[in-house]
Amino acid sequence: MLLDKEFVISEIDPRIYGSFIEQLGRAVYGGVYEPDHPTADENGFRQDVIDLVKQLQVPIIRYPGGNMVSGYNWEDGVGPKEERPRRLDLAWNALETNQVGTNEFVDWSKAVGAEVMMAVNLGTRGIDAARNLLEYSNHPGGTYWSELRKQHGYEEPHNIKTWCLGNEMDGPWQIGQKTAHEYGRLAAETGKVMKLVDPTIELVSCGSSGSGMPTFPEWEATTLEHTYDFVDYISLHQYYGNRDNDTANYLANTLDMDNFIKTVIATCDYIKAKKRSKKTMKLSFDEWNVWFHSNDQDKEIEPWTIAPPQLEDIYTFEDAILVGSMLNTLLKHSDRVRIACMAQLVNVIAPIMTETGGGIWKQTIFYPYYYTSVYGRGTALNPIIKSPKYDSKDFTDVPYLDSSVVYNEEDDELVIFAVNRHLENTLKVDIDIRSFEGMEVVEHVVLENDDAKATNTLDNEQVKPHSNGQSFIEDNKLVGVLPKMSWNMIRLRQLSNANGVSL
Ligand code: AHR
Repeated sequence: MLLDKEFVISEIDPRIYGSFIEQLGRAVYGGVYEPDHPTADENGFRQDVIDLVKQLQVPIIRYPGGNMVSGYNWEDGVGPKEERPRRLDLAWNALETNQVGTNEFVDWSKAVGAEVMMAVNLGTRGIDAARNLLEYSNHPGGTYWSELRKQHGYEEPHNIKTWCLGNEMDGPWQIGQKTAHEYGRLAAETGKVMKLVDPTIELVSCGSSGSGMPTFPEWEATTLEHTYDFVDYISLHQYYGNRDNDTANYLANTLDMDNFIKTVIATCDYIKAKKRSKKTMKLSFDEWNVWFHSNDQDKEIEPWTIAPPQLEDIYTFEDAILVGSMLNTLLKHSDRVRIACMAQLVNVIAPIMTETGGGIWKQTIFYPYYYTSVYGRGTALNPIIKSPKYDSKDFTDVPYLDSSVVYNEEDDELVIFAVNRHLENTLKVDIDIRSFEGMEVVEHVVLENDDAKATNTLDNEQVKPHSNGQSFIEDNKLVGVLPKMSWNMIRLRQLSNANGVSL
């Protein structure tokens, strides 16, 4: 492997480490918000959840959906709580009490240090509801909706900058599913009007719900024909699962993710050329994760209950390895992927789990997300990798080594994130760090486990990282020692300062 300061992909937009909270299952009720919980603050937010989300340094959080938003009346979630209606949530067969809505979520996001990425309903609603929500949220005052916000106790505008024009509108499961032409027209007109209300906002147009959708990538091409001039991003969503219990094949799924991103970029650039546009479309990978463990148990859930335990995947060690690799893939495309949201954040397909009324714990996937978010800030570099390869059921030429590299100029720190996909062998990687002379290994964090199916629970954390990685510098080269089937973070620094004093 060869690294060089000059092999720059891009400065990383920190929003690549975003996440997602949907009004779904116990994400909000029993997760974010639980007024009777012993750690609840004066707003009813669980402090233990706030503390753990802050550890992840999540810069942006998408809200309120997801599929839920396509049947949502945002007006139900503002104003006096006792007057808020209970509604059927048709996306998830549940009962929505609306005790948390726009204002509460803005408050919570401030508490965790994140900005809000707000989605509008383009399923059952359209331009009018979207422009009103934007006026309510962002207009300083003197109009019907902005004054209503003030009456509700929010004198200052929320200034929400990033807005999603609906959610997964290509999906047959979506309330108000649309054809590409129908969605394209509606999204373009909604976007146009929203930018009249507040020209400072940025908009995300819905891309395909996954790389496997039959209409991908025609959906992107057709919708962008309509929306290109009005939007700033197109969305990508992708979930993986090891349904066949074939770990080698499962860990190769990031080849699909990589191809998905490349195809969306190509499609955007085709429309750019067709339109003779000067604008380059950015990508918002605003739903990504592993999701399959809970599929069967969710079929047993009683309909029309409040905050049922939906989508509560319990993640395994191998899931954490794939998540680490998905983060690598996002970093490798950080020139075009400027926003990404791990879906989701608390209880629902999440790195953080809570017991309603009880404790909190970290899933296996918490760890690669945590380390990449905290240490993956700066400039993404393009490592030149030579790796042995394997073939699996769905993929050929899968490199055993998957890696992304970040140079943090501020701290003069080089960070290598590396996955060894080999299920039996350690991978010893010679890394030429020619332009980083004098750097030393300060930390080699490893996530490894003999059991691919090991999980964490409240009382038993079987999957957690250690810092005893064996990487070392030899003859001005870094030798990375990556245990079989492992996720690794190798951090290097100049250990002497300018005066030659050891730090
Ligand atoms: O994140 C769970 C669901 O996955 C979201 O509601 C939807 O957008 C996607 O299908």
